[in-house]
Amino acid sequence: MTTTLEPNIHPDSQREVEILAAESEIYHPSPEVVAQALIPNYMDLRTEALADVESYWDARAQEMVDWFEPYEKVLDDSGKPFYKWFVGGKTNIAYNALDRHAKTWRKNKLAMIWESEDGEHRTYSFFRLWQEVNKFANVLKSMGVKKGDTVTIYMGRVPELPMAMLATAKIGAIHSVVYGGFSEQSLASRIEDAQSKVLVTCDGAWLRGKTVNLKEIVDEAVRRSPVVQSVIVLKRTGQPVTMEQGRDYWWHDLMSLPIASPKCESEPMDAEDPLFILYTSGTTGKPKGVLHTIGGYQVYIATTLQYVFDLKDEDRYWCAADPGWITGHSYIVYAPLILGATSFMYEGAPDYPYPNRWWQLVEKYGITILYTAPTAIRGLMRFGDAWATRHDLSSLRLLGSVGEPINPEAWRWYHRVIGKEQCPIMDTWWQTETGGFMITPTPVVPLKPGSGTLPFTGIEADVVREDGTSCGPNEDGYLVLKKPWPGMARTVWGDPERYIQQYWAEFAKQGWYFSGDSARKDDDGYFWIIGRMDDVLKVSGYRLGTAEVESALVSHKLVSEAAVIGVPDELKGNVIYAFCILNSGVTGNGDLADELKRHVRTEVGPIAVPAKIEFVDSLPKTRSGKIMRRLLKAQVLGQPIGDTSTLAD
Ligand code: WTA
Repeated sequence: MTTTLEPNIHPDSQREVEILAAESEIYHPSPEVVAQALIPNYMDLRTEALADVESYWDARAQEMVDWFEPYEKVLDDSGKPFYKWFVGGKTNIAYNALDRHAKTWRKNKLAMIWESEDGEHRTYSFFRLWQEVNKFANVLKSMGVKKGDTVTIYMGRVPELPMAMLATAKIGAIHSVVYGGFSEQSLASRIEDAQSKVLVTCDGAWLRGKTVNLKEIVDEAVRRSPVVQSVIVLKRTGQPVTMEQGRDYWWHDLMSLPIASPKCESEPMDAEDPLFILYTSGTTGKPKGVLHTIGGYQVYIATTLQYVFDLKDEDRYWCAADPGWITGHSYIVYAPLILGATSFMYEGAPDYPYPNRWWQLVEKYGITILYTAPTAIRGLMRFGDAWATRHDLSSLRLLGSVGEPINPEAWRWYHRVIGKEQCPIMDTWWQTETGGFMITPTPVVPLKPGSGTLPFTGIEADVVREDGTSCGPNEDGYLVLKKPWPGMARTVWGDPERYIQQYWAEFAKQGWYFSGDSARKDDDGYFWIIGRMDDVLKVSGYRLGTAEVESALVSHKLVSEAAVIGVPDELKGNVIYAFCILNSGVTGNGDLADELKRHVRTEVGPIAVPAKIEFVDSLPKTRSGKIMRRLLKAQVLGQPIGDTSTLAD
């Protein structure tokens, strides 16, 4: 077992108090919401689906996507936990997202509306997006990208990012999108692990009126991971960049060559062929590439999006995440396109230049569904109601939340001020590894502020004790998934053993997936997520590993050892505290702390910068040498330090 579980320390005792207060606060869906719901019989469907999971997903696979050749078997569990779904089926997700719509009336429908922080805007019909993707798919082919190759994509939040993903999928290659907020070392190790010969990037990205030098970071990352042979650079900001001859090419140059024809057939792919690798944080500094395959993933994300966000042709749906994280992969790029929906994508911060920016956009584009993270909601709530109330938000009909537990206070504000008490809030619990929503309401499910309510159709989730017995009501335990589902990750790229150890070892006897989260169920069976039980941190909803930050710190020449913990924060959910042991003879001071923060920023990225760095002489460790982070945390929070019997010294 590789996780370090700390069941006797509560990551957030505030959460406990909030849950108890919100448990009996129920919001029933209005008759209008129920009347317009696509899936009004959702509750019955949950019971039906669990009774025969395979038939249920079989029906969804027929309904949601097209297959070039039918599958022979819905689920093959002979090699568990390496489950296979829709075995033998031939398909392509880009075909389902674009090709098929470009042949129907949807050809003329808007697939994407995009605006950037400076007000630049563009729209793409399904036909136009399909053509652009075809062109770029041909460009990738001409650069030698073949079925099964990996392409690393490192860009800002521009329409070309989804295009690059779809083009990669179209020709049967595997994309690895690295979030544009990551820096040199994070990018380099992800390129290295995926062995990508082709990298797609931008010259820069806009952030709060300033530019971020993406290409410069790429140059350094490629120097560290020289496996890259070609770099395609989109001109976004126009800032000066160095283009290395024979390696670097401008996107617009390639797209205007005759090879960039607007016609490109989608490669017939096996349902279990890899679609993408998405790196996520684990317990070691080495990035963990979560692998998703095509067939099951597309069925799962399309079903969940349709049921939960009730997506209809007349909607204008806005998922405000970044395409570089799983929420963006599943619910900005693939699922909305598969469903033929119109999405809005925004490049910018919620409060720049003013805290009304998002509400202005909701009004301007008539957004009907808004899906974002608690940290953004809390951030905007702090500026007061007036920034929102001066805009007409009446187009909104559904709201969503993801990424971390939403505190009931933020939930109520979102519900009252943004949703005018008319919009149900879909609090969706899921993970990079689950591919799509796992515990979530739909519009017809009664809500409680701060609870993700119930497992989705066909999902069997539970909160259990260490021995696998189910916890009683309001008892904290391990959040497990007891049955496989089509959207589940298939393995860790290049490291199947790590996949088993990370997710399937804790409850190996029972064959359950362990999420790494602790949770509880209340008297009504509603799930309340408490937080991570392992070395994963959620900072502003972003997922980071303590090990990533620690390895960045010790890569500084003056640091010999480091330990990092997450400390609850009202705005960001958690902030990072770092404890560093310096090389002998070196004394820590404020300047060095600042230097170390800058170092973490260049190595990992701004999201990983510790809020506080403390210099210490020693770190609490177990006899086997593992740092006992829970002791550090207890000390910072002034909590009892609990069981110290394994402490070495
Ligand atoms: C946390 C993001 C409470 C959880 C989609 C999980 C949540 C981790 C929620 C996965 C939610 C995500 N309520 N906690 N609605 N959604 N989490 O892989 O700890 O970036 O394990 O996926 O985020 O983060 P990841």
